[in-house]
This record gives sequence, structure tokens and C-alpha cells, in this order.
Amino acid sequence: MGYNLLKGKRGIIFGALDENSIAWKTAQSVHDEGGTFVLTNAPIAMRMGQIDELAKKTGSQIIPADATSVEDLDNLIAKSVEILGGKIDFVLHSIGMSVNVRKGRAYTDENYDFTAKGWDVSALSFHKVLQSLYKADAMNEWGSVVALTYMAAQRTFPDYNDMADNKAYLESIARSFGYFFGKEKKVRVNTISQSPTATTAGQGVKGFDGFISYAEKMSPLGNATAQDCADYTVTLFSDLTRKVTMQNLFHDGGFSNTGVSQEVIEKF
Ligand code: NAI
Repeated sequence: MGYNLLKGKRGIIFGALDENSIAWKTAQSVHDEGGTFVLTNAPIAMRMGQIDELAKKTGSQIIPADATSVEDLDNLIAKSVEILGGKIDFVLHSIGMSVNVRKGRAYTDENYDFTAKGWDVSALSFHKVLQSLYKADAMNEWGSVVALTYMAAQRTFPDYNDMADNKAYLESIARSFGYFFGKEKKVRVNTISQSPTATTAGQGVKGFDGFISYAEKMSPLGNATAQDCADYTVTLFSDLTRKVTMQNLFHDGGFSNTGVSQEVIEKF
């Protein structure tokens, strides 16, 4: 169901790999709400994923960009403004990857080249996206930029590994860049801290099935799904949240404020 919340708005959506991706659901919801956008992903993901199908469904163009490359980002932003016919109103950063996790390296046995690569992809890329938008003056006033994060930035989840540190850095960028983007261009910058979600990135975390079931039992409203996250993101792109900025917004069915639930107690 659409409310035309994003009618006339233009954006860029990073990170739709397949139909499970949070960015995929978000693209569909934004489309349903009347928004138009360019889809982007890393060149390698173009070959692995099914982004063409999403582009067709939503009438969007695809521009490949490695989010760690400032050159790629500058090109993406310039071309998006051209294709969409004006400045940008919304951007979704839905990008995450840890090489240590992928290669099965424990947090206490990090390979620092892997750590640096994962940090560049998962955290610094957010600064790069914001800085490229800022320098190109590519955002409209009252525009909105959202990145996705996880609560391991605040509390320890051992198997989340170095992604916890990457998410802490990402959330800090939203506050720090949000100040400048707000002050000078009236653009808001937020992170959504999402429940565990069954996607390619999510399932890469060791013990993910236990993780997601535990969160489900701990959350009074149950886990937020990828579609729930898409809906929430639409509100943050809309004009109904114009004074929300520099926030890390928990979107987790109440998990983050629950000490323990009856269901979990009963397991003991
Ligand atoms: P996903 O695997 O569908 O999406 C991750 C995306 O990052 C992929 O499309 C991938 O191609 C892209 N990517 C990787 N390296 C890139 C690069 N160098 N340049 C551009 N794009 C690159 O998984 P999901 O879960 O939809 O992930 C989206 C975001 O949500 C990530 O930031 C993730 O950490 C976050 N998140 C996921 C949760 C989960 O349990 N799935 C929970 C909380 C946050």
C-alpha cells in the first residue's frame, strides 16, 4: 500500500544484492511510495546478484560503484543527478562486509589487512559517500541519508567480530557528518539499528540461526524483518521526519531495551 510519501523525490540506493537484501525491499517500498532512484552496487556484486531484475521492476538505472572508491562515488553521484533530472533527496547506505568473518578469523586473531579492508567497506565508505555528496552539493535541502547498523556497536555479541567496531565507527560518522550536513545544507543523517535479518550478509555471521531465534524471543514485538526496515526507512526519507538527525535509531521490536524475556527465562 502506498501513501505517495516520496512522490517527486530522487535518490540513490546502495546494496541491493538479491531479493533478501534490506536494500532490495527498500527499493521496492520507495518505488511504491512514488520515489525514483538509481541502484548501485560493487561491480563484482553485479555479476553475483540479481539487480537487473529489481531495476526492471522499479524502472531504475544501475550504476556500478565500489563504495570504497571516491572516484566511483563521484561518478555515481554526477550521473545520478543527470539521470534523475535534479539533486538528490535520499540515499540508503546498505553495505557491510568483514574479511575476518568471511575467512573465519576470530576477534582475538584478526588479520589487520582484513580488518582494514572490512572497515573501509563497512564504515569509512559511509564517510566517503557523505563527503562526495557534500562536496558536489548534490543533496536537496531537507534531504535524508540513512545507513544500516547493528546493536553490536553498543553491546558485545562475540561472533559479530570486527563488524562491531565497524558499526561503532559508522554510527559515529552519522553524528559527526550529520552536524555539518545539517548546519550547512539542512540534510539529515541517521543510522537504523536493525534486528538480525536473514540476508547474505546476516547469514555470514557465525551461529546466525541461534542469534536470530534468540533475538526473536527477546523482543516483545518480535524481530523487525527486512520489509519492516524498508518501511521505517521510507519514513526517514519522507518529509514527516525532517528534524530527526544525527541519531542511531533502534528498529528491533524492543530488543535493545529488554533485559530478559519470559521465553528466555523458561529455557533455563
Ligand atoms: P546483503 O548481503 O544483502 O547486503 C550487503 C551489500 O553490501 C551487498 O549488496 C554487497 O554487494 C554490498 N557491498 C559489499 N561490498 C561493497 C563495496 N565495496 N561497494 C559497494 N557495495 C558493497 O545484506 P544486508 O543484510 O541487506 O546488509 C545491508 C546492511 O544492513 C549492512 O550494512 C548490514 O551490516 C546491515 N545490517 C544487517 C543485519 C542483518 O542481520 N542482516 C542486521 C543489522 C544491520
